[in-house]
Amino acid sequence: MSNNLIVGFSGNLSRPSSTRRFVESVTESLGRQTGLGHEVFDVEDLGTSLAAARSVTDLNPAARKIIRTIIEAEALVIGSPTYKGSYTGLFKHVFDLLDPADLRGKPIILTATGGGDRHSLVVEHQLRPLFAFFEAFVLPTAIYASGRDFTDGAPSPVILGRVNQAIAEASLLVKARAAVTAIAAE
Ligand SMILES: Cc1cc2nc3c(=O)[nH]c(=O)nc-3n(C[C@H](O)[C@H](O)[C@H](O)COP(=O)(O)O)c2cc1C
Repeated sequence: MSNNLIVGFSGNLSRPSSTRRFVESVTESLGRQTGLGHEVFDVEDLGTSLAAARSVTDLNPAARKIIRTIIEAEALVIGSPTYKGSYTGLFKHVFDLLDPADLRGKPIILTATGGGDRHSLVVEHQLRPLFAFFEAFVLPTAIYASGRDFTDGAPSPVILGRVNQAIAEASLLVKARAAVTAIAAE
C-alpha cells in the first residue's frame, strides 16, 4: 500500500538539527521532481515511547502513525547525524522495530551529516548495509555533508550536485514503479 508521499526521516536527537534541515531540503526537492507530496519526521517526533518500545505496538498512537507513514511511503529520504562513526542509536532502534519485509523494494536516498569529513563513508558502511538488509532499492548516490559544506544553511555546489544526482536516480525509479503499478492495474 502506498500513501503517494515522499517521506523523509532523520535520526537527529536534538533540534535545531542540521540533519533534519538537510533531509527536509532533499525530501522537498524529490517531492517537487516527482509531483508527489512530502512529509518529514525525526526521532524527536516519535516521542518518549520510542526508547522503551520493544515492538511497534508499544509505541504511542502518534508514533505508530509515523511508522505507518514511513512504511507506506512512495520513497524515503533517510538521514542521520554521525555519532561515534555510525547512525544514532535511537535511529537504529526505529528500524529494529520494523518487519524485515516492510521496506522491500522501496527507493531510498541515503544522507548523513557529521562534524568533519573523517567519517564520510558512514553512508556506505553503516546506512547502506542496514537498508540492504531490508531489500530496499537504495540509490547509488548517497550524500554525506559536514558543517563546512553549508553556508547559512545552503549546501555547497558539490553537495548540491550530489543531491541532484540522487534525486534524478530516485525520480526515475519512482516513476518507473508508478508505471508498472498502472500497467498491472489495467
Ligand atoms: C554523541 C556525538 C557523537 C558524535 N560523533 C561523531 C563522529 O563520530 N564523527 C563525526 O564526524 N561527527 C560526530 N559528531 C558530530 C555530529 O555528527 C554533527 O555535529 C552532526 O552534523 C550533528 O547533526 P544534528 O545537527 O542533526 O544533530 C558527534 C556528535 C555527538 C553529539
